[in-house]
Amino acid sequence: MSIRLDQTVPFGRSLREYESMFSLSAADRRSRILDCAAGPSSFNAELTAAGGDVWSIDPLYQFGGAEIQRQFFSTLDHVIEQVRATPQNWVWSYHRDPEDLRRNRIAVMERFVADYSGRTGTGRYVCGALPNLPFEADRFDLALSSHFLFLYSDHFDTAFHLAAVRALLRVAREVRIFPLIALRAERSQHLIPVCERLERDGYRVSIEAVGYELQRGGNEMLRIQWM
Ligand SMILES: C[S@@+](CC[C@H](N)C(=O)[O-])C[C@H]1O[C@@H](n2cnc3c(N)ncnc32)[C@H](O)[C@@H]1O
Repeated sequence: MSIRLDQTVPFGRSLREYESMFSLSAADRRSRILDCAAGPSSFNAELTAAGGDVWSIDPLYQFGGAEIQRQFFSTLDHVIEQVRATPQNWVWSYHRDPEDLRRNRIAVMERFVADYSGRTGTGRYVCGALPNLPFEADRFDLALSSHFLFLYSDHFDTAFHLAAVRALLRVAREVRIFPLIALRAERSQHLIPVCERLERDGYRVSIEAVGYELQRGGNEMLRIQWM
C-alpha cells in the first residue's frame, strides 16, 4: 500500500536532513546553492545563518507565511495518519516514529516561517515553478530538489521531468535530486528514460546511495553534472 495524495504537500525538511539526503560536503555547503521546490524547508534559513549562500524557489511563495502554515497544518494529520497506516513503508532511523516525525516537521515549519516572514529585502525566497526558472544561466554551483521530482511521478509525466531537469541544468553546473521513488514506494517510472536522455545529451549521470532513508527504499539520489 502506498501513500495517496491529490497534490504536493507543503512539508519541509531540515538542514541536517538535506545534508544526508544529498551527501553535502563542507565545500558543497560553501557553494552557491539553489533549492528548487524548496517549500517550507528550513534548509535556507539554517544554512544562511551558518554563512551559506542559498536561494529557494517554489510556487508556494505566492503566499505569506501565515497561509503556508495554515496549508501545512491542514494536511499534517492526514499525512501522519497515512504513515501510521503503512508501517511497512517507513524506516525510523532519523525520526524515531510517526509522532517524532510530526514534531520535527512542525519545528522545521516554524524555523522556515520565522526566516521567510522576516525576509524583507533579502529576496532569498523566489516564487516560481519548474520548468521555468527566473535566473540567468550558470547562476548557481549546485541545484537541489527534494521530494518533488520523481516523488510525484503519477502527477507529472516524463516530458515534464526532463524539461524540469534541463531547466535546473541551465542555471546550475550540478543537479541533485532525492528521492528517486514515487509515492507508491517504487522507483519512479520516469527515472531511466530521463537518465538515458540526459546521457545522450552528454551529461554525466549517476544514481548514488545516501545516508537518509525515511520512505523504505528511498535512499538514492540522482546526480547530474556537466561533462
Ligand atoms: C513535499 S514539498 C518538498 C519541500 C522541500 N524540498 C523539502 O524536501 O523539505 C514539495 C514542494 O514542491 C512544490 N512544487 C509543486 N509544483 C512545483 C513546480 N512545478 N515547481 C517547483 N516546485 C513545485 C510544492 O509547492 C511543495 O512546496
